[in-house]
Amino acid sequence: MTELPSMAQTYSGVFDVCASMNLELLKRYPDLIAHQYNGITTDNPMKMSAIQPREGEFTFETADTLVSFAMAHKMRVRGHTLNWYQALPGWIFKAKNGGEVDAPTLWRRLENHVTTQVRHYRGKVYAWDVINEATADETDKVLRQSTWMRILGPTYIPKLFEFAHKADPDALLFYNDYNIVHPEKRDRLLPYLKELKDSGVPIHGIGIQAHITLFAPHQIDEPAPDYRKLLEDAILAYAKLGLIVHITELDISMYPYQDLNARVLKEPTPELLELQAKRYEDVFETCAKHSDVVKSITTWGVTDDLTWLNEFPVKGRTNWPLVFDGHGNPKPAFWRLVKRKA
Ligand code: XIL
Repeated sequence: MTELPSMAQTYSGVFDVCASMNLELLKRYPDLIAHQYNGITTDNPMKMSAIQPREGEFTFETADTLVSFAMAHKMRVRGHTLNWYQALPGWIFKAKNGGEVDAPTLWRRLENHVTTQVRHYRGKVYAWDVINEATADETDKVLRQSTWMRILGPTYIPKLFEFAHKADPDALLFYNDYNIVHPEKRDRLLPYLKELKDSGVPIHGIGIQAHITLFAPHQIDEPAPDYRKLLEDAILAYAKLGLIVHITELDISMYPYQDLNARVLKEPTPELLELQAKRYEDVFETCAKHSDVVKSITTWGVTDDLTWLNEFPVKGRTNWPLVFDGHGNPKPAFWRLVKRKA
C-alpha cells in the first residue's frame, strides 16, 4: 500500500490528516494507517466505561497499545473523551450503599477520573475532547439535561476544563459536538462558548464532529444549497471567539439522515461515489481555505468494513462513509483528496 500517495503528506503544512483507531483496524491495516495519517484518536478505548470500568480500577491497556503505535510512527494523539453522557461505567452515578450518588461524591469521582486519565497521557495526548455532546437537542435549551447536569449543575463543564488543564497545562482542550455547523445549533452554542472564554475557562478549541451526509454538512435533512458555505460560516464564527477548530469525526454517509428504512443499497453507484468525492473535497478545501483556524481533520475510521455507520442509525445497514473501501483500497474520494494542487 505504501505506493499510494499519502493524505498526510498532501496536506502537510495545511492541517493534520488523522483517523480514529481501534485494535481491529490496526491489525488489518497497519501499513495503510502509518502511511496515510499523521495522527489518531482512539474510537472507544479512552471513554469512561473503558478506562475506569470499576471505581479506582483504571484499565489503560487497549488505549496504550494504540498510543504506542502512534508514538512509534510519530503520529499525534487526540484524546476522546473525558466526559460524555454515554459510555459510562455502571458505578458512576451509584452511591456505595445503593441509591443515587450525592453531589460531593460525584465531584470527587469526576475530578479523580479526569486527573488520572490526563496525567497518564501527559506528553502523549496533545489535545483532549474534554466534553462530548453537551449541547441539548431541544432548541429551547443550551445544555443537555444529562445526569451530570442534574446532579452537579452546569458548573461541571468549566470545572472539567480546569481539572484537565491542571493535570496537563500543555494539552489543548476542546468542546466536541455534532451538528454544530447547522446554524440553529451553532447560534445556540456560540454565546455559551463565549461565556466560557470570557470567564477565563481554559478552552482552546471546538471539535466539529462532522458525521455528515452526501446531502448536508450536518445530520439534519434540510436542503443545503451551499454545502461549503455552511461549513465556512461555522468555522469563521468559532474562530471569532478565538477558538481553533478541529474536524474530529468526519464520515460522509450515503443515506439522508432520517432515512431509517434500512433501504439497503447493494453497493454505492458510481454517481454516489462521485458525489462523495466532491463532498470530501468540499470539506477539505473549505478547511484548507481557513488553515489558520482549522488545524486537524480526523475521519471516524479508515475503511468501510469497520465503520460505526454499519450499525447506526440503522443496525446492520451497510454504508460506505470513508475514503477507503472494505478491503483498504482507495475510493474516488481518496483520489480527489490527494490530487490537490498546493
Ligand atoms: C461511536 C463508536 O464509533 C462506536 O463503536 C460505539 O458503539 C458508539 O460510539 N460521536 C462520538 C463517538 O463522539 O464517540 C461515537 O463513536 C460516534 C458519535
